[in-house]
Amino acid sequence: MDRTGWSLSHSASLAGSLVQFPIQIVPIMHSYLARTRHKTRFLDLGCTEGNALLDLHAEFGDSIELHGLSLRHFPGWPGITKKIKGAIQFHVGHAEALDRKFPKNYFDFIRSNLGIAHATDLGIALEKARKVLRKGGLLMISLGMPAPKSFPGFEIVRRADAFTTNVILRKK
Ligand SMILES: C[S@@+](CC[C@H](N)C(=O)[O-])C[C@H]1O[C@@H](n2cnc3c(N)ncnc32)[C@H](O)[C@@H]1O
Repeated sequence: MDRTGWSLSHSASLAGSLVQFPIQIVPIMHSYLARTRHKTRFLDLGCTEGNALLDLHAEFGDSIELHGLSLRHFPGWPGITKKIKGAIQFHVGHAEALDRKFPKNYFDFIRSNLGIAHATDLGIALEKARKVLRKGGLLMISLGMPAPKSFPGFEIVRRADAFTTNVILRKK
C-alpha cells in the first residue's frame, strides 16, 4: 500500500489479496460445497499468474474444477498446468464477453480481485458474469471504485468496504 492508501495487486495469493478483499472466501466456499452434490467450478477472473488458484488447489484438490482468465497469456501458466496435471485451466478473454467463452450456468464461484474492476463497462461485465454463474452461485468481487447502487439479478450476501468496495453476491 502506498502513502495515499492505494493498494496495487499483480498476482496476489489468496492471503495476499486480503489487503484489498478482506473476506476469507475458503470458509464460504466450504459451506456452499457442503450443500452441493454436483461437480463445482470456480473462475478467477483476472487471475494473472494464477497464484490464488494454486492456493485453492492446495485447499480443495481436484474436487473443484479451477479456471483462470486474464486479458493475456502469462508465462507461469504452462508450468502450473504441467505441475498439477491440468487441474487448473487458463483462458485469455474479457469479462465483458464471458458468455462467449463459457456456457450459461457453468460456474459455482466467480472471484475477481481487482479484475472485473477494470472492465470498460462494469454493468455489462456483471451481466455476463451472471449469465455464466449457476443459480445460487457466488460472485466475489473487489471494485476499485464506488459500487453501483444495485446489482440486478443478485442478492448481496456480504459487503466489506476497505480500500476497495468488496461484495459477495448470490445469483437469484
Ligand atoms: C490488477 S491485476 C489483479 C490480479 C490479481 N487478481 C490479484 O489479486 O493480484 C488485473 C487483472 O485483471 C485482468 N483484467 C483487466 N481487465 C480485464 C477485463 N476487462 N476482463 C478480464 N480480465 C481483465 C488483467 O489481465 C489482470 O490479470
